[in-house]
Amino acid sequence: MEIFREVNKVQKKSLEEKCKGNVIGFVPTMGYLHEGHLSLVRKCRENTDFCVVSIFVNPTQFVAGEDYSVYPRDEERDKAILERERVDLLFMPEVKEMYKEGYQTNVEVLKFTKPLCGKFRPGHFKGVTTVVSKLFNAVLPNIAYFGQKDYQQYIVIKRMARDLNFPVKIQMMPIVREKDGLAMSSRNSYLNEAEREQAVALYSSLKRGEELYNSGERNSSKIKKEMGKVFSQFPLVKPQYIEVVGAEELDSIEKIQGKVLIAVAAFVGKVRLIDNMLLGG
Ligand code: PAF
Repeated sequence: MEIFREVNKVQKKSLEEKCKGNVIGFVPTMGYLHEGHLSLVRKCRENTDFCVVSIFVNPTQFVAGEDYSVYPRDEERDKAILERERVDLLFMPEVKEMYKEGYQTNVEVLKFTKPLCGKFRPGHFKGVTTVVSKLFNAVLPNIAYFGQKDYQQYIVIKRMARDLNFPVKIQMMPIVREKDGLAMSSRNSYLNEAEREQAVALYSSLKRGEELYNSGERNSSKIKKEMGKVFSQFPLVKPQYIEVVGAEELDSIEKIQGKVLIAVAAFVGKVRLIDNMLLGG
């Protein structure tokens, strides 16, 4: 596995691979890899000729007061994992390489960034779309892989790629869960034992929503109310939002028709976690 830290070196390598007729697959990450990331890497290896992974903890997508400075990092462990997965190229830029002095350009998707996490993390998605555009321009991928756990991020990036004519297919992969249903996330490592036990609240609440949907309930207020009751059984967990939205446009809906997303965000102690499920359609 080659490791590059400079944008121009990655661009050169990608262009060489493209000239050979190779399809470039890309998995952007912030590192501290878990099985969720690896499911993306494996799909990328399977479906493309040249698999690039990036590790970059992007400062611009952390809102003031969030965990940028303490976000878990372990470069050596991540490198060893990616070697084992037979990744072709690891791109690991420094902050000063991605955001050169005097940097003043952003990429912003206007509408799909407003609901759900966008309400509580102003500026977060602008940071994501900006860095993902920059990563796409460095790696020049044909296909890029994103996890369903960050479903809103997937929708936002898909729209950004469409609107700005990035010649890249955006591929979403299913959520990978722990045995008890907790969605895998690098932030799970912050949880203490008691919090970890109660973190299953997010999945339990989604399962309750799914159960109601499967039994024929189509009123989203009723579903949200019942999902909220599940959280009251977990005293360490405080929901931030419980939403039912259209799966394509993330618009709020009252009567469920077609494909919808049920999505939750909650604080488990001080740790903010998110999870979701697609229903119908
Ligand atoms: O999902 C993530 O890990 C990040 O938001 C991403 C896409 C790597 C951009 O920093």
